[in-house]
Amino acid sequence: MATSMIGGMITSGVDATQICVFDPSAARMQDLRTQFGLRCCEDNNALIRSCDVVVIAIKPQVMSSVLTPLAASFNAKRPLLISVVAGIRADSIDGWLAQRHAIVRVMPNTPALIGAGASGLYSTELVSAAQRQQAEQLLNTVGLTFWVDNESDIDAVTALSGSGPAYFMLFIESLVNAAVKAGLNPDTALSLAVQTAEGSAKLIKSSSDSLPALIDKVTSPGGTTEQAMQQFRTHGLDKLVATAFDAAHRRATELADELG
Ligand SMILES: NC(=O)c1ccc[n+]([C@@H]2O[C@H](COP(=O)([O-])OP(=O)(O)OC[C@H]3O[C@@H](n4cnc5c(N)ncnc54)[C@H](OP(=O)(O)O)[C@@H]3O)[C@@H](O)[C@H]2O)c1
Repeated sequence: MATSMIGGMITSGVDATQICVFDPSAARMQDLRTQFGLRCCEDNNALIRSCDVVVIAIKPQVMSSVLTPLAASFNAKRPLLISVVAGIRADSIDGWLAQRHAIVRVMPNTPALIGAGASGLYSTELVSAAQRQQAEQLLNTVGLTFWVDNESDIDAVTALSGSGPAYFMLFIESLVNAAVKAGLNPDTALSLAVQTAEGSAKLIKSSSDSLPALIDKVTSPGGTTEQAMQQFRTHGLDKLVATAFDAAHRRATELADELG
């Protein structure tokens, strides 16, 4: 995730020498230096001392052991702290640092790897308007950004756009399987399904029509789409999606409780 953000920042014109990284793997840092021409810090304390914005992109399970020894550096420098770490609440970060900080929590998703991400952002009270703008600019380099007002909304964002790529991919897989069963070549079926998904998303974005109106436009009375839509309704697609979403939402909240 950090590599994607670095790539996005550099592509969008940020000067690589303004970016400083630390990773415990010297080989990985060397790769980043070679690929992007950015600066590498000798450790996290040196990084925090030299940066106004610190992005944390480590695994949730190591957050407490990584942050606790860095408290003195954070408390002295007080940078804007952007965490892309799933399931770690701002209160937990403040607790490990033993002081309250300006924190922006971000829930990105995997399409960020190709610059097509959707990120939900939440800022704590100490984040200034200028810092919110900084965070937004940074995340805009890997996709679109959307602010939420309550930290608990990040759990809903996790269930929607965080896990969402898997939902759409599963639907495409089911569609392809059905088409292959009907005789289509698997590669052709996949290409048609993916192009249809991409085209539909672009159509939704570019049209001023509502979703039901757009669906109506494809659904001629007595036609093929109407038959399929009837099956989706009869078998409760809406209810199934709501149940799946609720399960992901519940798990996001549970994980935040466990990891904090
Ligand atoms: N990937 C996604 O689509 C996605 C989506 C939403 C949120 N996130 C969140 O983004 C975070 C990063 O995910 P990821 O997939 O990029 O994980 P990742 O590939 O494992 O990257 C984490 C990196 O942090 C390094 N690291 C470990 N300890 C460190 C330390 N003390 N100081 C500096 N770096 C350290 C790791 O090095 P080692 O490998 O040597 O330990 C690794 O290079 C996670 O918290 C995840 O929840 C990811």
